[in-house]
Amino acid sequence: MIYSKITGTGSCLPQNVMTNVDLEKIVDTTDEWIQERTGIKQRYIATDEESTGSLGVGAAKKAIEAAGLSADDIDLIILATTTPDKIFPSTACLIQKELGIKNCPAFDVQAVCTGFVYALSIADKFIKTGSAKTALVIGAETLSRIIDWKDRNTCVLFGDGAGAVVIQASESPGILSTHIHSDGSYEHLLRVPQGVATPELHKSHKKPFIEMKGNEVFKMAVKTLGRIVDETLAANNMQKEDIDWLIPHQANIRIIAATAKKLKMSMDRVVVTVDQHGNTSAASVPLAFDLAVREQRIKPGETLLMEAFGGGFTWGSVLLKY
Ligand code: ACO
Repeated sequence: MIYSKITGTGSCLPQNVMTNVDLEKIVDTTDEWIQERTGIKQRYIATDEESTGSLGVGAAKKAIEAAGLSADDIDLIILATTTPDKIFPSTACLIQKELGIKNCPAFDVQAVCTGFVYALSIADKFIKTGSAKTALVIGAETLSRIIDWKDRNTCVLFGDGAGAVVIQASESPGILSTHIHSDGSYEHLLRVPQGVATPELHKSHKKPFIEMKGNEVFKMAVKTLGRIVDETLAANNMQKEDIDWLIPHQANIRIIAATAKKLKMSMDRVVVTVDQHGNTSAASVPLAFDLAVREQRIKPGETLLMEAFGGGFTWGSVLLKY
């Protein structure tokens, strides 16, 4: 049996930090409200010189270096993003060019905040079927560019950044299971209502922004993430106590705490970065993962559960031995 094993991680954050106090000057909000309702203290916001692609390249280079490889070794690139630099080519292709890699397949995956879990699930299947040996899987976003900075319901929540992993074919585990789901009937609760090919777009000059019914999304996220934990444990014939680390999507500390409670896991076994990064959508899980790896909190051989929930709705999990 071929497994895919994570052999390198990396991340990259924009230069600019925006604190809750900075936001108080832009919209009718307070540091106290943001921290109490979300756990967020600050987020990073891309400068005009930074983009999803440049942040993705920064994270990818660190992951390749951490794996002890060179860019030439990569034979598959998958980028999870909802904020691509261009309509086409895909930002994965732009990253491929910057890394000087030729010929390998490179493509974007769009599953909003679950994007990295989707991308890792796809890369795992490429490796398990022998179609790739060394894959670069990236989550990179500049959500700040699709935020209405006048809307306090959403602008306080999001941030920019990128995280990446290198996964390689291995005889030992590795990724134990991936589960991905979606239900498009919830589109009205969380969306950016326009795209480049929206039929009425040519008549409107309105810039597209994130719209979210936060409270309803919150309830669905808690319920659905509880279900994905059960599904993952059952599929692997594992108990809650078999999980060493939870690496959740970083949308809201209260959603993260609810999933930890479901796992009967103390919060010191949960990687939390939402306070520092806000919600970086597809970048949040690999960013959190890289931070914990570099701080040597996560050790080789430990069992990790990654999970995410986002627009679509989409949701999913990756269970792996590090
Ligand atoms: N500052 C001050 N007050 C605010 C702010 C703010 N920034 N934003 C909203 N409020 C007010 C509201 O207007 C409301 O006031 P009202 O009672 O007078 O009407 C009050 O605070 C409560 O608003 P709620 O929306 O009910 O607050 P809630 O406790 O639900 O927190 C939040 C809102 C943080 C958005 C939460 O619902 C949440 O985290 N939702 C889930 C987000 C998520 O997981 N999204 C999925 C991933 S994102 C993706 O895929 C792109």
